[in-house]
Amino acid sequence: MPRRRPDHDHQPPIAEGAIEREFGVPIPGKVVAKESWTQTALKKLPDCGPLNINSLFGRHAPLVVDIGCGNGRFSLGSAWTRRDHDHLAADILPVVIRYATRRGNQRGLTNLRFCVVDGERLVTELLPAGGVKELHCYHPQPNPRPGEGHGRLIQPFFMAEVIRVLEPGGLFIVQTDNASYWNQIKQLVERFLAFQTHTGRWPDAPRGRSRREIYALKKGLPIHRGTGSPLPGLSYPQALELAAELVRGAG
Ligand SMILES: C[S@@+](CC[C@H](N)C(=O)[O-])C[C@H]1O[C@@H](n2cnc3c(N)ncnc32)[C@H](O)[C@@H]1O
Repeated sequence: MPRRRPDHDHQPPIAEGAIEREFGVPIPGKVVAKESWTQTALKKLPDCGPLNINSLFGRHAPLVVDIGCGNGRFSLGSAWTRRDHDHLAADILPVVIRYATRRGNQRGLTNLRFCVVDGERLVTELLPAGGVKELHCYHPQPNPRPGEGHGRLIQPFFMAEVIRVLEPGGLFIVQTDNASYWNQIKQLVERFLAFQTHTGRWPDAPRGRSRREIYALKKGLPIHRGTGSPLPGLSYPQALELAAELVRGAG
């Protein structure tokens, strides 16, 4: 007899004030009264051209982006604690975005939107130039499966787009528990960013910022973390040239 697929859209009702956990670690924030629930799903993306971030959030605030956000744990926590920042979190898999939006809605967050989109498209087409204060990428897939983009996300042209979208002094934050992907990431991002390895856990979330980080910590896997800002003087056209050179060199 065929097994029934889990029904991700019909979850049991959740009580106001409820604190949810995964791997025993609370998911940031609390469920608010139903009349304060919000709509954090961004369903309609522009066919071409960048998103109008100010009209999306109805204000102008520093923008935090989370690419490959999975169930959204990092962005939920950041949006819950930093109400003066807006957050856009994206994943290519609709099912994880459904979990993330449900939690965002139930927390009544107005400074958070989730969308289903390929991270490559997000940085190349949808994010405005110079409009991002922080671009986070937690545990990008080291071995993407069919339907998860064209190979590894963090590639030379992806980094050129990171240079385009970050505001002056903006930050790229990346981490992985895959040592060989980390070596590739580090070598690459150092060509575009003044990049530092972050030693130890994130002080704001010592039990893990994201679901995968919590899992990796529980399994005792080494986690590699780093942050960086665009190299001073590196323009977007120069970053594109550098990306083309790196791709030619690799070919
Ligand atoms: C290992 S999970 C990490 C999820 C989350 N960031 C965390 O740390 O728990 C990798 C995530 O990246 C997503 N992903 C893979 N390729 C992607 C792409 N090209 N664009 C956007 N998301 C992608 C997957 O669907 C998955 O949710």
